[in-house]
Amino acid sequence: SLYTGKGSFGKKIVYQPSVKSTQEIAYSLARDGAPEGSIVLADEQTGGRGRLGRAWQSPAGTGIWMSLILRPEIPLQKAPQLTLLIAVAASKAIEKVTGLEAAIKWPNDLLINGKKTAGILTELQAEADSIHSVIVGIGMNVNQESKHFSEEIAQIATSLAIEGGKTYKRAEVIGYLLQEIESLYHQYLQNGFGVIKLLWEARAFSLGKRITARSVTGSITGYAKGITDEGVLLLEDDTGRVHSIYSADIEIPSP
Ligand code: BTN
Repeated sequence: SLYTGKGSFGKKIVYQPSVKSTQEIAYSLARDGAPEGSIVLADEQTGGRGRLGRAWQSPAGTGIWMSLILRPEIPLQKAPQLTLLIAVAASKAIEKVTGLEAAIKWPNDLLINGKKTAGILTELQAEADSIHSVIVGIGMNVNQESKHFSEEIAQIATSLAIEGGKTYKRAEVIGYLLQEIESLYHQYLQNGFGVIKLLWEARAFSLGKRITARSVTGSITGYAKGITDEGVLLLEDDTGRVHSIYSADIEIPSP
């Protein structure tokens, strides 16, 4: 079996060779009452979605394209904490499998040697202030070789295989991922965000650096000071004003 941990995440698996997006399938499963910890896996996505409306390349057989259903009883404004939790779990799983360091770029890109190897997309079903379900989409480049990426993409993206110099069993990586997510999630539900925040900060790539946060409403450059208890990024501009960043793309400006 795929996942033999003591927990319950991954007990219900919906696998399909080719789908538009695992997010859509997980969304309707969740609406129909699928239990927490259910996952949707595909070999290939033809319409994979990334953050901020972008497409996510999901070619057949090379990566992990997975959506996980969570049903946390937390207020809506705490949902960003979950995204950071998943990023920490994915970083730990990558380190366990490959022995390589996986840094987190706010909010939830995972970088090995400065290049993106995984991304996380958190989507919610909520009513008023109450969360019905959270669909966590995880995309991880596992066995792509450099030749699979265009020259442009190869500048910014990588895979476990490229960085680790060998191929990895996707099922094994998924097992570690689910194990890490489940154990952090339970610890979070019991003890709150404190420990997750520390773990996140210890793995953060952009903290203490001068960065530019770019969004549809404009861009701000300053020092990344930290994250709040709600998972919001704090950015101090050159006048000393601190901005709360809820959603943006982070760039490291060239000196
Ligand atoms: C990002 O970095 O922009 C987030 C990428 C998330 C991709 C995953 S792959 C599985 C799930 N299904 C999707 O369509 N997207 C997410």
